[in-house]
This record gives sequence, C-alpha cells and structure tokens, in this order.
Amino acid sequence: MENFAFYNPVKILFGKGQIANIATEIPADAKILITYGSGSIKINGVYEQVTASLSGHNFLEFGGIEANPHLETLLKAVELIRSEGIDFLLAVGGGSVVDGTKFIAAAVPFDGDPWDILAKQAPVKTAMPFGAILTLPATGSEMNTSSVITKWETQEKLFFSSPLVFPRFSILDPETTFSLPLRQVSNGIVDAFTHVMEQYLTYPVNAPLQDRMAESILKTLIEEGPKTFADLHNYEARANVMWCATMALNGLIGVGVPQDWATHMIGHELTALHGLDHAQTLAIVLPNLLTVRRDRKRQKLLQYAERVWGLVDSTEESRIDLAIAKTRDFFEVVGIRTKLSDYGVGLDVIPLITDRFEKRGFVALGEHQDVTPKVVEQILALCA
Ligand code: NZQ
Ligand code: ZN
Repeated sequence: MENFAFYNPVKILFGKGQIANIATEIPADAKILITYGSGSIKINGVYEQVTASLSGHNFLEFGGIEANPHLETLLKAVELIRSEGIDFLLAVGGGSVVDGTKFIAAAVPFDGDPWDILAKQAPVKTAMPFGAILTLPATGSEMNTSSVITKWETQEKLFFSSPLVFPRFSILDPETTFSLPLRQVSNGIVDAFTHVMEQYLTYPVNAPLQDRMAESILKTLIEEGPKTFADLHNYEARANVMWCATMALNGLIGVGVPQDWATHMIGHELTALHGLDHAQTLAIVLPNLLTVRRDRKRQKLLQYAERVWGLVDSTEESRIDLAIAKTRDFFEVVGIRTKLSDYGVGLDVIPLITDRFEKRGFVALGEHQDVTPKVVEQILALCA
C-alpha cells in the first residue's frame, strides 16, 4: 500500500426527515444564500422543507444553476453575495448545484479572475462556509473537495479541488430522490459505479481492504440499482444507492492505491463539446478504456471478473472479455446507452479532444501516466 493522508470532516445527516435539522447546523446569526438549479426543488417539496427549517434565519436565494454548472451564472451569485453581505451558503440540489456552490465559496474571497482557480489551478486560500442538501446521488460532491465547472463561452469543462471546499455538513434524505427523472437515477448509478472503477481497476498494491470496500460498493450498486427502477418508491433501495454514491467518492476507497481517472477526463470533453450527461460519457468510455488497457490492468480485471461478477470458469482472456461485456450490459440494464452513435456523436470528435489535451500541455492520463493522446484516440475509436 502507498503512503497516504486521509482527512474528511463532512458531517453527514442521513435519512428521512433530516432536512428539519439544518437550522441547528447553521449559525443563528448567519445571512444565508440558498443556491439551487432549474427549479426541481420547488416542485418536489424540498424547498418548502428547507425554508420551514430556516424559518428563524435570515436567507436569500439564487436559482438557475445549470446541470454542468456555468461559470457565467456562478459569477452572478458571487456579485450578489458580495453586495448582500452573505456569509453562509446552502446548496440544494444535485452535483451541479453542490459543485457550483463550491466554486462560488472559493470565488467570493478570491483575489483576481476566479476562472484562474480552474484554468490555472490558482490556489484557493480561503472559502466561504457552506452546507449541502443532496437531491441526486451520483457525484460524491456532498462529501469531497472537488468541483467541475463549465465555461460556456469557450466550451471548457475543468475541475478544481481544495480541502477548503468540503461542505460543513450534507443532508442525504433518500426521499428527496423519489422525484428524479429515470434518466437521472440511471446517471447516478453509472457515475458512482465508474468512480469506484477509477480507483479500483488499476494494478494491485496489496491493499485488500480498499479492494474489498470497492468491490462491495460495486456489488451493492449491481444489486440495489435495478430495484430502484422496479419500484420507484423503494426507500431502502434508494437509501442504499445514495450511500454507495457518497462512499464511492469521499476519498476512503482511494487512499493508498493508484487511481486512473482517464475515463472522466475524456468524458468531460464529450460533455463540453456535445452536451452529453456526465454519466452517459462514462458509460461510453469506460468499457472501451478497459478493452484498450486490458494488458496494463490485467490482474485487477481478473480480480474484478471473479469477485464482482463471479467469473471463474474458462480462460483468463475470456473472463476478461466477459467482465468487460458485463460492465457494458449493466450500464445498459440501468438505462444508459453505451455508444457515441446512440447520442448522434461521430468519430470526428476524436481529433477535437486529442487536440485539446495536447494544447493544454496535457500530461498523459491513467494510473501509469501513459494514456497519451494516441491511446485516447484508440479508446474513442472503439466508442463508435
Ligand atoms: O436543475 P435542478 O432543478 O437541480 O434539476 C436537476 C438537473 O436537471 C435534476 N434533479 C436533481 N435532483 C432532482 C432533480 N430532478 C428531480 N428531482 C430531484 N430530486 O437532475 C438534473 C441533473 O442534475 P445534476 O446536478 O447536473 O446531476 P449530477 O448530480 O449527476 O451532477 C453532475 C455534475 O457533477 C459533476 C459532473 O461533471 C457534472 O457537472 N461531477 C462532480 C464530481 C465531484 N464534485 O466530485 C465528480 C463527478 O465525476 C462529476 O464530474
Ligand atoms: Zn463522475
């Protein structure tokens, strides 16, 4: 196992009715800005629960944060916060609202052009405090330090990470997810699954605990994910998927082990250029990345085949083939198509993506830092 430091201070309040407890988590004299997206929280009763819980507090609201949040919109919130003297943020929504709020929290006290936090990885020296009420289990943003922001003007989707943007607390009430469109339920399962794969499906470093935790999240998603579609109000299945998604990317399974993240980096370009949902890009790229990287990932692919999919018969090559096929089938079973052509995207996207990587002075991706633009091209060529 590699050396590591692990720190995660996020307080999680999990379960039915937990939104009622936010008032006690926010200082009584705080001037709060509630941030949210395109309005789902005003239809599904979450907004009413939040405002009821904050009835003794002073708050304003800022809506309109897009899926794949736009820099341009978030900067309007920054202005509002500065002019109104807001001192606490409350993100209510999915990963986009939480990520957008992390960026706002870092941008308000930032000296200079806040886009530099992403484009130049300018260090975040201080950030506003904020809490989150998560309504879409997928990204893990509710318990991690990352944020992914899109600059609409240039169609760039970049990330930053800082321990200063850990939420102070996150509320995870599975009942808030009952109103999700099925497409977003599917997205959440595939995103969480891929987060685990990015941290698990690399090469062995004798970290059996991390491996088994990763495998248990994958198996739980495989078992519980489909139950959420069979009965749309299955609280237990929603709760299990929600906790899987948080555990998939709160840092715990990734300590002391190599990590890949090439699928995500390629996927972000597909979203930036063609507007595909984040999880759709992952479902397209991951199985083909595993195919192209099968030799470099061989030992872990065999372990994955056996422990996650129960594949023990036949040759090693066919077990690997089948494990990759089962991964793709699982994504399709939970409702996400796995080819670029399913989304009307042609292979002419490949040079656009590899050019962008090269222009950014791109260090090769992957756990061995050897997924060069040439390898990205091979992976994307299989995605047709
Ligand atoms: O706009 P609102 O009203 O919030 O509606 C959203 C949006 O239309 C809707 N929705 C959310 N909760 C709902 C609901 N509709 C009905 N009922 C509910 N309970 O779902 C749509 C998608 O929401 P979004 O927040 O965009 O989805 P998700 O949580 O999948 O977040 C995706 C974003 O997170 C980034 C992605 O790149 C993408 O920008 N990621 C962030 C990560 C992180 N911070 O660690 C890691 C991930 O890999 C990912 O890159
Ligand atoms: Zn993701």
